[in-house]
Amino acid sequence: MKLCVALDLPTKEENISLVKQLKGFDVWLKVGLRSYIRDGKPLLDEIKSISSSFRIFLDLKIHDIPNTMADAAESMVGLGVDMFNVHASSGKIAMSEVMQRLSKFENPPIVLAVTALTSFDEEGFFGVYNETIASKVIRFSQDAYESGLNGVVCSVYESRLIKSHTCERFLTLTPGIRPFGEASDDQQRVADIAKAKEEASDFIVVGRPIYRSNDPRGIVQKIVQTI
Ligand code: C5P
Repeated sequence: MKLCVALDLPTKEENISLVKQLKGFDVWLKVGLRSYIRDGKPLLDEIKSISSSFRIFLDLKIHDIPNTMADAAESMVGLGVDMFNVHASSGKIAMSEVMQRLSKFENPPIVLAVTALTSFDEEGFFGVYNETIASKVIRFSQDAYESGLNGVVCSVYESRLIKSHTCERFLTLTPGIRPFGEASDDQQRVADIAKAKEEASDFIVVGRPIYRSNDPRGIVQKIVQTI
């Protein structure tokens, strides 16, 4: 299991200051929509210049027609990111085209599919997909697996279920982690590290418990040790 630290701070300078504090740790760094739209490729380059051993997960959740998604995937390779994600609801043709396009590269990034956004409750989800979250998450995961993707973004509580319907090696990346029982903030279904381990999560995403702490480096050290 790997730790993925969410760089969700309000400015580039604050994100970079956090990255500098994490130097030396074997962790992934998650760059999301806000930071990427604001700071772009120079942010990614600066992270790699602080330490080339940091791995970058570009969390842009792409969703478009197949050719546009495949073009975007190829551009993502050009950015030098190690992992990115697409929406499973873009469908099997689009996901397969993304993987097909990446197959010409020697070390392509890991590609994950977003299943159900954790901001949905059952009613809101049903209004969009006409299905329950649990059954749709399994179907989305199977679509992603059959399209050749490497894994999915899901809640801890769906990780094992997804693996049992796809393959043990199919990766699960789980946000909503409160490593040592910290405040859940706006997350609905949180879990600690022990639970994430029990549910065979491959990547845990942690944001606020790290960057809001007085000692981010200390917390990361504790998480890495516990993992
Ligand atoms: O601060 P916290 O640990 O809750 O941050 C979780 C991170 O994971 C945020 O960047 C959030 O946008 C992201 N995320 C999530 N739920 C998803 C997908 C991504 O919380 N389903």
